[in-house]
Amino acid sequence: MQHRDSMPDAHALMAQAREAARFSYSPYSGFPVGAALLCEDGTVIKGTNVENRSYGLANCAERSALFAAVSQGRQKFLAIAVACPASGVPVSPCGACRQALSEFCAPEMPVYFAGSGPDFVTTTISELLPRDALHGLKDTVRDRR
Ligand code: THU
Repeated sequence: MQHRDSMPDAHALMAQAREAARFSYSPYSGFPVGAALLCEDGTVIKGTNVENRSYGLANCAERSALFAAVSQGRQKFLAIAVACPASGVPVSPCGACRQALSEFCAPEMPVYFAGSGPDFVTTTISELLPRDALHGLKDTVRDRR
């Protein structure tokens, strides 16, 4: 497993993700998801999936947590945990969430994802979104301003 020395308390973060899933609004899919995003200052921001009768408007737990954190003035993150208590297997973030997280999170940042069981998978942003040729673009654009 990578990042063992610098790894935040993954189990504690996952417990918070499972807690967040309790607030899920997912009457259409019946698939609650919770996310817990660890900020640089130690704060944990939780998020859950929020669905809509217009199905395509569903917002994933990961982006709920990310957007809440940014809305509260936090843009630096150390790890994220995602829990899917209705799934027998661990479920990784969707493509949209991978992209959204990559805007703010370092490529090597740990991502933990779980299903209903106690075990979870440990990976990183760059493993989930490899060959991110645009990674440096936001800094380049900022430098030009
Ligand atoms: N969902 C998440 O919130 N995060 C994931 O990583 C996987 C999918 C949500 C979206 C939708 O509300 C439900 O799970 C079924 O796809």
